[in-house]
Amino acid sequence: MTRSGPGRSITARFVAGEGLEEAVSVAKQLDRGRITTMLDHLGENVATVRQAGDARLAYLNALARISQEPGLDCAISVKLTQLGLDSSVQECLSNLYPILEAAGEASTFVMIDMESHPYVDGTLEVLAQAHGRFTTLGVCLQAYLRRTERDVFQLPPSVRVRLVKGAYLEPPDVVYHDKSDVDAAYARLFTTLLARGHRIDAATHDPALIEGVRRRVDATQNGWSRVEFQMLYGVRRDLQTELARQRYPLRVYVPYGTEWYPYLTRRLAERPANLWFFLSNAVRASK
Ligand code: FDA
Repeated sequence: MTRSGPGRSITARFVAGEGLEEAVSVAKQLDRGRITTMLDHLGENVATVRQAGDARLAYLNALARISQEPGLDCAISVKLTQLGLDSSVQECLSNLYPILEAAGEASTFVMIDMESHPYVDGTLEVLAQAHGRFTTLGVCLQAYLRRTERDVFQLPPSVRVRLVKGAYLEPPDVVYHDKSDVDAAYARLFTTLLARGHRIDAATHDPALIEGVRRRVDATQNGWSRVEFQMLYGVRRDLQTELARQRYPLRVYVPYGTEWYPYLTRRLAERPANLWFFLSNAVRASK
């Protein structure tokens, strides 16, 4: 993919690059347009303790680099299966704790991505244990999962939550599959999180949901002190620019690294037009 022209163009649209410096350079560029960032060192489901240690090191390097840019508001986001969750909660925590300590030194925070549904219990357990020691840790919740409307009441008090629709192909008994049901669950969860005093990252590119969030937060006293919009690097850049222009708080999730394949596959699956764009360019390039 990265060696062919069409492959390079679609990868470059969604992934900042293979190296940390490319990600930092994207973060600085977005910062100039009043957009804050969150770096994701790509990778998931590592097979060995050593690979989990490599992922930890990559995050420690990212945090050391972020701390060299004092004016840059840049957090990080981690996938727990990259830090050893498949092995055990303890193994995962042993990799996560040094990252949380380094994030504190870099005056930033760490978010946990939510992966496919078999990992939800483990993820919430890691969150519960680690949040007791580090309040600079937050978690992503998926509105398409039926269980999320119960999970939301078990969260550590005031933990930061990133609310998304959900990106994995899941069996119908665990998720809502009609868009209208997912959107309604998203709106209900947002209301619950706001009422329960959480800090919320409204992570969506859906204009109707964004408008709903905007109306609700505008009507809440000091609402914008604990809500921000979040979007993915390369998705709806027009909307990103417009929200930033209107001075709404917006953070962009910036993935980088060599393990981009599963991430890219999810982005292609979300929007068939992306796949069509890739295939038509591939056919043109082969002529
Ligand atoms: P929806 O899919 O309805 O899209 C709304 C509009 O946005 C589309 O009509 C289109 O214009 C545009 N759009 C959306 N996706 C696009 C794409 N790939 N390419 C081009 N245009 C696109 N999921 C998860 O399961 N675990 C996680 O940890 C995270 N983390 C995360 C962080 C952040 C900051 C964001 C924004 C999203 C995630 N996600 C995620 C992904 C999320 O679950 C969801 O799959 C995507 O955000 C797409 O859903 P939307 O809410 O944008 O709505």
